[in-house]
Amino acid sequence: MRWIAVFFLIPFISSAQIDSAESRAGDDRAYALVAGGSKGIGYAIAEALAKRNYNLVLIARNTDTLALAKSRLEAKYRVDVQTLSYDLSKESSAAEIAAWCNARDLKLKMLCNVAGLGGDDDYLELSLDSVRYMVNLNVESGIAMTMLLLPLLEKNAPSYVMNVASLAGFAPIPSKNIYASTKSAVIFFSYGLRYQLKPMKIKVSCLAPGPVFTKKSIKRETKKTLGWLGMRMAVPPERVGELAVKKTLKGRMLIIPGTLAKLSSVAIRVMPRRMAAAIYSGVDRRVDKKE
Ligand SMILES: NC(=O)c1ccc[n+]([C@@H]2O[C@H](COP(=O)([O-])OP(=O)(O)OC[C@H]3O[C@@H](n4cnc5c(N)ncnc54)[C@H](OP(=O)(O)O)[C@@H]3O)[C@@H](O)[C@H]2O)c1
Repeated sequence: MRWIAVFFLIPFISSAQIDSAESRAGDDRAYALVAGGSKGIGYAIAEALAKRNYNLVLIARNTDTLALAKSRLEAKYRVDVQTLSYDLSKESSAAEIAAWCNARDLKLKMLCNVAGLGGDDDYLELSLDSVRYMVNLNVESGIAMTMLLLPLLEKNAPSYVMNVASLAGFAPIPSKNIYASTKSAVIFFSYGLRYQLKPMKIKVSCLAPGPVFTKKSIKRETKKTLGWLGMRMAVPPERVGELAVKKTLKGRMLIIPGTLAKLSSVAIRVMPRRMAAAIYSGVDRRVDKKE
């Protein structure tokens, strides 16, 4: 895996530039909804949007974290931040959130489906309920939010949908089977949706980051499984949020922050699936032996 990534490194270095053009909401009533926007990558996305004058609706479960995010953003930027506490894995949540937005005739210009769950458990050991929770949160909630908020996004077009997948969505990963499968679904959904929504002037992007150290456990796991390469591949959350928003506003389909992560994604995508699964399974065995 590491050698394949290094092999792809050289020809791409010069083209890995960061775009500089900035887009602005240009309307002080424009809102962006960030599902999973109270911390981590979602908060960074929210902040990058606030910098561009977007008012925000942040969704998460924990009300304290939501309140903290609201006060930090409103203190730093001249934007209105609304917060809604919902568990997005619940079937009723998307409909209730959409009803809240519709009741206010919200000038919704961007929907960011960020909330998701990973973890490094062996999914064969997980209860079916835990697996269902992950599938509902990672896949079903983003699809439901998109479908139910489509009328508002269409009304306020040109508008944007940003779905957050992962580099893990490009390969079958035995030790993260359900997570990788859900993120693969997000990538496929986004590619198809981009064409479905084109006539409505709604642009669809998919953010697929490599490691982002939003918690200590992610850093630990990355070091354990991917070693030096993984640590070098990591991109800070603030940078991920900034790139995600900048490139979504430019209408970019696939957004992979960081040169090494981009190169790895190319390597994984050109590789036969069987080979990718075997390589990841080898990485897992090596890690198991070390422990
Ligand atoms: N971090 C990485 O290395 C990495 C890499 C690739 C892709 N990703 C993807 O990026 C996204 C964000 O990751 P992150 O590391 O930034 O996560 P995080 O720090 O745990 O933040 C997740 C956000 O989603 C909210 N959330 C979680 N479960 C929810 C639920 N059931 N209902 C409503 N809100 C919920 C959280 O707030 P509450 O807990 O209060 O609900 C929080 O605002 C995920 O989809 C993840 O799969 C992350």
